[in-house]
Amino acid sequence: MAVLVTGGTGYIGSHTCVEFIQKGQELVILDNLCNSKAEVVDHIETLTGIRPRFYKADLLDIDAVKKVFDENDIDTVIHFAGLKAVGESVAKPLEYYTNNIVGTLNLLSEMRKHNCFNLIFSSSATVYGKPKTVPIKEDFELTTTNPYGTTKLYIEQILKDLCVSDNRFSVVLLRYFNPIGAHESGLLGDNPNGIPNNLMPYVTRVAKGILPHLNVFGNDYDTPDGTGVRDYIHVLDLASGHYAALKALSERGVHIYNLGTGNGYSVLDIINAFERVNDVKIPYQIAERRPGDIAECYADASKAEFELGWKAIRSLDDMCASAWNFEKNL
Ligand code: NAD
Ligand code: WQD
Repeated sequence: MAVLVTGGTGYIGSHTCVEFIQKGQELVILDNLCNSKAEVVDHIETLTGIRPRFYKADLLDIDAVKKVFDENDIDTVIHFAGLKAVGESVAKPLEYYTNNIVGTLNLLSEMRKHNCFNLIFSSSATVYGKPKTVPIKEDFELTTTNPYGTTKLYIEQILKDLCVSDNRFSVVLLRYFNPIGAHESGLLGDNPNGIPNNLMPYVTRVAKGILPHLNVFGNDYDTPDGTGVRDYIHVLDLASGHYAALKALSERGVHIYNLGTGNGYSVLDIINAFERVNDVKIPYQIAERRPGDIAECYADASKAEFELGWKAIRSLDDMCASAWNFEKNL
């Protein structure tokens, strides 16, 4: 029996593949490489000694998805594949809805045809929109502020409806907070195309001199230093969270978990930690608030700890050191 990892050559997927292979799990990867590179499969092999079977395939191509299920004995799917840039989703909503939602529907219909009923889905803290209070619990109101977030919310609803209609399915919705950091080898990490939208890849490119300075989007929020506060989680902790989530699949229906640390750090905290840990300077300027940003977002991650026995263990220093180690290696 194998686990299919869609989006397995991407940032979070690749780290999760390493975690699963190291735990002895047989894996198959499906990715269309629209935001990742085939050489990631080589890096996974270097790190684990095992080369997972890789299909360069698009979830929108239902025949290609069928082929993957026909050729492998898949009993569980971890579904990372999707487009994830918030700003781009505002400019290209139809592309985002098609890729993320139709891609998921194709995957689900092939899963059902092949008697595969276990799914772990990459959701996001973005489904909490602008939370009224923090820390955020799983039963908070759901709302979104951009098409990317809406694809996550709709897919969550589709999966809930599916589980009501067909009680053979077990689904885990993992709502990630802000994943940063990289594998300690420097072989895997976050390497977005073009100018990064997210804070940490922007910071590492400023540190390397590729970008001149960081724009800090607003210093007049109602937070301790006025800059935005987020729950940054090491990507390796996130990867182990997926392994822990297998436990929840043993009970049918939908299970929802926040994957975060429960700690909030500001943009200035990140800059200061990065400079101190890596002994580099991050020139920055205070800029206008970024439209759609919220002041504070951090998780109550106690449900995952209580039910899955999972807890994030890596520090902000680990996240900053590993992100810089990865960038230097590029
Ligand atoms: P990523 O872009 O690095 O990985 C996604 C992978 O999916 C890429 O390798 C891409 O080539 C592939 N892909 C996209 N559309 C596809 C399609 N139609 N068919 C096949 N492959 C396709 O992103 P990531 O940061 O690793 O995120 C993984 C998942 O986690 C995504 O669903 C994302 O929305 C979600 N998520 C990410 C974050 C974050 O900050 N990185 C936070 C919350 C949730
Ligand atoms: C973090 C903080 C910015 C860049 C996004 C998505 C969310 C999820 C994770 C997928 C904020 C500030 C950033 C910069 C800055 N993705 N910042 N200068 O916005 O919390 O979440 O990624 O699901 O859905 O919305 O993450 O890394 O973009 O920003 O000052 O150049 O850094 O204002 O306070 P965000 P981020």
